[in-house]
Amino acid sequence: MDGNGRWAKKRFLPRAAGHKAGVEAVRKTVRAAREMGLECRTLYAFSSENWKRPEQEIADLTGLMKYFIRADLKEFHENNVRLRIIGDYSAFDPEAVALIDEALATTANNTGCTLVIALNYGSQDELVRAASKAAQKGAITAETIAVELDTADLPPLDLLIRTSGEQRLSNFLLWQAAYAELYFTDMLWPDFDGRALAAALDSFAARER
Ligand code: IPE
Ligand code: MG
Repeated sequence: MDGNGRWAKKRFLPRAAGHKAGVEAVRKTVRAAREMGLECRTLYAFSSENWKRPEQEIADLTGLMKYFIRADLKEFHENNVRLRIIGDYSAFDPEAVALIDEALATTANNTGCTLVIALNYGSQDELVRAASKAAQKGAITAETIAVELDTADLPPLDLLIRTSGEQRLSNFLLWQAAYAELYFTDMLWPDFDGRALAAALDSFAARER
């Protein structure tokens, strides 16, 4: 999810307004994905590199995360959505950690689609941890690494979408993206919605797999 800052700048608004609009795009897209019957999607909400941002912006993002859980947990649960986190979310403030724990516990036994949120996630770190664990247990192979990844029990990654015109993966699901289709759009994240998701899925469906 990229482009919140540029979306705000274009409107002469503070970056925080872009992040707020980004949450609305999350809502629209997650709802659309559920209605389309997608089994699983992962949102890159906060990378391990995002800690380098100004303190106020980190506070704004954390605040929005808490607001989102408080406001939307009920809807997820009612729709049988299972929430998952990848990345070490213990780095956020205690109130945020408690809210995330509550959301995970509430939805743990849901059997519908899975919504994964990447928080304080970095793929290289995930790979280092997975390879170390694999090595402790014996031989390092693609299989022994794969089962130690944060995403071990999730379905394979088919499609990876990046918004706002950047064409790089930025340390997101590097191992998992080995066979994924990549989809880059100039659309800024706050403008993304169900229609934009449908366009990405149409592009995916037209590709030779
Ligand atoms: C992505 O938008 C939002 C998060 C990292 C949560 P940016 O904040 O990176 O927006 P740009 O890149 O400045 O437009
Ligand atoms: Mg950015």
